Amino acid sequence: MHVITVDDSISADRALRLIERGSALLWEGDFHNGKQLLAALGRRLPAVHGGSFQDQRRMQARRTQVLNSLLIATSDHTVSLRRAPDVRQACLEAYGPPAGDRLVPLRELLGVIGAHQLRQQGIEIPALGGRIHPHYGVFAPTRSEYVDLVASCPLPPAAVAFDIGTGTGVLAALLAHRGIPQVIATDNSSRAVECARENVRRLGLDVEVIETDLFPPGRADLIVCNPPWIPARPITLLDHAVYDEDSRMLRSFIAGVRDHLNPGGETWLILSDLAEHFGLRSRSELLGWFADAGLREAGRLDAVPGHRSARKQEVSSLWRLRAG
Ligand SMILES: C[S@@+](CC[C@H](N)C(=O)[O-])C[C@H]1O[C@@H](n2cnc3c(N)ncnc32)[C@H](O)[C@@H]1O
Repeated sequence: MHVITVDDSISADRALRLIERGSALLWEGDFHNGKQLLAALGRRLPAVHGGSFQDQRRMQARRTQVLNSLLIATSDHTVSLRRAPDVRQACLEAYGPPAGDRLVPLRELLGVIGAHQLRQQGIEIPALGGRIHPHYGVFAPTRSEYVDLVASCPLPPAAVAFDIGTGTGVLAALLAHRGIPQVIATDNSSRAVECARENVRRLGLDVEVIETDLFPPGRADLIVCNPPWIPARPITLLDHAVYDEDSRMLRSFIAGVRDHLNPGGETWLILSDLAEHFGLRSRSELLGWFADAGLREAGRLDAVPGHRSARKQEVSSLWRLRAG
């Protein structure tokens, strides 16, 4: 990679030309001016909306590639530019212990700082009567509609519940808060497992969190899962919570869940229909997977997200599934 050192004297148009010719730019100016240059570059790129899912992903990838070409030098998690914030704790949380000099895309560093702030502040979850503190790289429950579905769905009599793909632990915490005596949560991401353990401990709830692929040992009366919902290849760290190539996790969960349910048990599968709007998965395919797994629909709760006009049509559902 050809790296050119630039500072406050460069214009956004020239910076974009250099990046488009294949260079990365190492920012040595004022930190805040670097943020402004990044924003100006963003404004010069086409906005990502409209078109097919593949068009949107291509545009998103191009945007990411250009914006990630503006780099910042860090040394032991310290940035020594004018007006640079102290990013040591934020970098420690995202990257682990300091390991010398590294070049980081400014855009990524801003994400790391934002994640640190979100972790510190936490997200108020009214249904829990408490806050959830997401870690860097762990799916944050910033959209509340699916949490409200789990909070409002009538609980079957359950002594043991599993939460598969627990992320921050928000749904496992909610199940424990609703009174299920034994809750076991799993995730295959070690960041998520650490985050979920911290959250349930902070909330004073008794939830066991296990790092594993899908199911823990044993059986449960209620199994809850909010899987990644877009069947496409994950690219970034956070994509793994959202993208699931060929619906692999979703299909494995549906195919296997019955073997982990106690007789008379219930599954709550939370799924947005965004993939259906994009033409990536059809409703009949989903219903076919339920039927193949010997599951029948025992009810469904739908929620319409209120806060994102671009996704007006998207509906998140909680599917109540039972064997039979
Ligand atoms: C959409 S997020 C949901 C997180 C959390 N349950 C919530 O509702 O906020 C999906 C989660 O599934 C986890 N996951 C993906 N594949 C998995 C697998 N095969 N086994 C266990 N967890 C998995 C991801 O790491 C991520 O935390």
